[in-house]
Amino acid sequence: MVCLGNICRSPLAEGILKSKIDTSKVHVDSAGTGHWHVGDTPDKRSIAVGKKYNIDITQQRGRQFNVKDFDEFDLIYVMDNSNKDDVLALAKTDAHRQKVKLILDEIFPDENVDVPDPYFGGDSGFENVYKMLDEACTQIAQRF
Ligand code: 4NP
Repeated sequence: MVCLGNICRSPLAEGILKSKIDTSKVHVDSAGTGHWHVGDTPDKRSIAVGKKYNIDITQQRGRQFNVKDFDEFDLIYVMDNSNKDDVLALAKTDAHRQKVKLILDEIFPDENVDVPDPYFGGDSGFENVYKMLDEACTQIAQRF
């Protein structure tokens, strides 16, 4: 699960997907394309909306997406088209490029919908992000 800062959207996506699958069989992680929040806890607004739905993301720490992640993971879900451009810029092979998916394609196929960045907005943005990610992760989890 990849976003820009790895403190708002992708930590929620990681926590939500982990809650829907067998984590002893599937390795789920998140990262940001940017470096600003490496080592940080998730944004307190993401922690709060997670807590509201019984998803604890407080143990997560920010890390930056790394080119090795293309080999480590079978699927790389990006939150928006800007994340997609940044991740694809690091890809070296078609096999790597094919792993990169816009997460909301899971619920709005071929509509090219972004998970909006809630960082500069209010609490309602985090609730909205949560609901989108919950639906998308339900779809993803059905395959595992
Ligand atoms: P995220 O949100 O990509 O959903 O984690 C952001 C968090 C921090 C920043 C941007 C987006 N930032 O510019 O620091």
